Amino acid sequence: MTIVAPSLLAANFLNLGSECKMINDSVADWLHLDVMDGRFVPNISFGLPVVAQLRKASNKAFDVHLMIEEPERYAEDFKKAGADHLIVHFEACRHLHRNIQQIKALEMKAGVAINPHTPVELLEDILADVDQVLIMSVNPGFGGQHFIDHTYQKIRDLKKMIHDRGLNVLIEIDGGITLENAAAILHAGANVLVAGNTVFGSPNPKDTISRLKNS
Ligand code: DX5
Ligand code: ZN
Repeated sequence: MTIVAPSLLAANFLNLGSECKMINDSVADWLHLDVMDGRFVPNISFGLPVVAQLRKASNKAFDVHLMIEEPERYAEDFKKAGADHLIVHFEACRHLHRNIQQIKALEMKAGVAINPHTPVELLEDILADVDQVLIMSVNPGFGGQHFIDHTYQKIRDLKKMIHDRGLNVLIEIDGGITLENAAAILHAGANVLVAGNTVFGSPNPKDTISRLKNS
């Protein structure tokens, strides 16, 4: 079953309450929350107080994507704010194994994200420890970018790595997902579709979420 995670980055920030209600009423599985620090990525989005307020309005699992340096400094705070999954970037973690154990000790699902230039093979020694791998299919920092086609090969390669090791790790794809390319992304082996502009920029976001779910 495909997991759909609308990315709040593309929502109307003046109406976060009603955007949450729309997601609650939809078949979305998770709410994807992009936290940016202006250092790891060249943009700043929103942080802990916003996540904590959203928690009161949302009944979906919070899939928190940390695009920040030194994520270990904030893992506990994100747990308190309501994160269910915490995803850290491979490129931002000098001690990734320790960071993943920290997230699991806080009783959250642990995810690792890789930028478009990072090969999936570099995850060989962490794969057994994570619940999900997020493959960035655009360069992180901004919504509304074009899907990088090389991602299809990365999905296939990661799928094989997971299968060969008999693991149960979800493959999550983030960036540039549309109603047109969703089926091909799933066919390559993805389990989770993150979508920002495709959902929030559509005339009927709830229907678009259903269509992604049934791609
Ligand atoms: C980008 C974020 C994405 C972003 C995707 O850095 O990680 O989650 O919101 O947006 P779309 O779906 O519009 O490409
Ligand atoms: Zn994201």
